[in-house]
Order: sequence, then structure tokens, then C-alpha cells
Amino acid sequence: MKHLAHDAFAKKLNSCAALVSDYLDGVLGELARDGEAGTPQQLTDAMRHGALNGGKRLRPFLVLETAQMLGVAMEDVLDIAAALECIHCYSLVHDDLPSMDDDDLRRGQPTVHIAFDEATAILAGDALLTLAFDLVTRPASLRPEQKLMLVEKMARAAGRGGMVGGQVLDLAFENSGGSAALITQIHAMKTGALLRFACEAGAICASASLSERSALVQYGETIGVIFQLADDLLDVTASTGTLGKTAGKDIDAGKITHIALHGEEWARNRLSELVGAADACLEPFGDCANILSAAAHFAAYRDH
Ligand code: IPE
Ligand code: IPE
Ligand code: MG
Ligand code: MG
Ligand code: MG
Repeated sequence: MKHLAHDAFAKKLNSCAALVSDYLDGVLGELARDGEAGTPQQLTDAMRHGALNGGKRLRPFLVLETAQMLGVAMEDVLDIAAALECIHCYSLVHDDLPSMDDDDLRRGQPTVHIAFDEATAILAGDALLTLAFDLVTRPASLRPEQKLMLVEKMARAAGRGGMVGGQVLDLAFENSGGSAALITQIHAMKTGALLRFACEAGAICASASLSERSALVQYGETIGVIFQLADDLLDVTASTGTLGKTAGKDIDAGKITHIALHGEEWARNRLSELVGAADACLEPFGDCANILSAAAHFAAYRDH
């Protein structure tokens, strides 16, 4: 499989980020939809702060690129991609709260509870989460059964057995010295579940065959593990300025990470193995999956 050059990939990711940001800007600019009383200004402002403050937009990128690889136009799945990004942004707003990771910097700006207040940050997160479900109902080109399946998979990825469950374990095992298997399970849940859904969503929108869908689910799981391992490595190797979030937080907070357990060199070797594993999942798609292959590479070797 050919690797897309890093610069070419970065350009593609950036143009997708602009597309998703413009789209979310429009959605968050809607004053009220049918049946709604309208959004309080303070809530709109906080949601915009949490969702329109930059961000690599890797999850929506994966939805759009997976669907496109399988023959579906990006415009037809933009709502689904944006929905997933709303869930991701909500997870970050809550992750940064004082009762969770207690961070005051995100994407180079004050976190939502710093820019507004804690109650507003909690509620802006709630509203981004529920907006995601509204967005999944919207695409005119998807059949009702596809939307139902998307709702089911998205709810499970975001909820108790996925992201939220993983966040609970991440906090519960602070300062406790967990095993490598536990760390991997936490990664798969808190981060992997949404990335896995990104790839599965593209397959659902394209009505892909079961075998194609399961290859993409496996690829999504692999990119999930890559992504959090790289995040933990960057926490110890990158600067706050490059990251746009406070570096060195994991050790201070007593988080259990593979870096704390096995060191940086182990993490780098593991990332390289995992990038190979991601490529293996993409083999059935041949060169059509070059962009997804580059995405796994990017997830492992990004600088922020
Ligand atoms: C950060 O996610 C949180 C993790 C799951 C590690 P990203 O690194 O994708 O954050 P943004 O969206 O680009 O800011
Ligand atoms: C966050 O993991 C995973 C989420 C579900 C948001 P981290 O706590 O390591 O993410 P950062 O480093 O704050 O972005
Ligand atoms: Mg966290
Ligand atoms: Mg955090
Ligand atoms: Mg982190």
C-alpha cells in the first residue's frame, strides 16, 4: 500500500477540518429548529467555544473518507461526521472540568469552564451530545434503517460501554498502578470507541458488505489504540505551545499510561507495530485505502 506523503495528507485533513468547521458554524448559528424554543445566548456561545475552537477533526475526516472510499459523496454524510465531532467536543469539554482532568487550556484557548463557568460547561457538553443525535436524523439521502443503525452504534460508542465508561475507568485508576491490559482497555473505551464508530459509520452510510464493515471496524479499533498511545507519548514529549493543551499532565495526575509502565521507546515501537496492523486491516481495499493508511500514520506520528 502506498503511503500518501505527510504534507499531502495534512492538506487533505485541513480542508476537511475547514468543511466540518463551516458546517458546525452553520448548525450552531441556527437560532431554533421546529419545536424548539430557541437556544439561550450563553449556551450558544459556550457550545461554539467548545466546538469551533480549532481541532484536527480526525473523527469526521474518517467518516467522510471511509464513506467516500466506498462510493458515497461527502456532502451526503456531512451531518454524520459533524454529529461525531459534536460528541468528541463534548467529551473534551467534560474531560477538562475541575472534577475530571482539571485543565484550563484546550486547543490553545481557555477551556469552556474557564471562559464561562462550570455549570455552563457541563450544560454546553450536554447540549453538544444531544445535538449529535439531532444531526444523525437529518441526511435526506440515508434510509431510516441506516439512521437507526447509526444512532444505535453512536450511542453505544459514546456511552457506558464506550467513551463514558472509559473515562470512568481512567479516573478510577488514577494513582493506582494498573496493568498494561487495563490501560489498553481504557484506551479502547475512552478513545477507541469513537474512532471505531467513525469508520463503521462510513461503512453503514455506504451500505458496505459485512466483510468490508468488519475490516473497517478493526481498522477503527486499531487507529483508536494508536491515537491514545500517541496522545500519552505527546503528553511527555511535546510542549504546551505545540499541543495547545497543558503538557506533562498525566504524570502529575497519576494517570496510568503505557509510557509510565514501559517507557517512551516501548511506546514508539508499539506505534510502529500498530501502524502495520492498521495497514493489514485495509488490505481488502487496495490502493483505494491509501488515505486511511496515511491517517493511521498521522495518528501515530503527529506533533499535536
Ligand atoms: C484529544 O483528541 C483527546 C483524545 C481522545 C486523546 P484530539 O487530539 O483529536 O483533539 P482535537 O479535536 O484535535 O483538539
Ligand atoms: C481524553 O483523554 C479522552 C476523552 C474521552 C476526551 P485525555 O484526557 O488524555 O485527553 P487530553 O490529553 O486531555 O486531550
Ligand atoms: Mg482524560
Ligand atoms: Mg484530559
Ligand atoms: Mg492526554
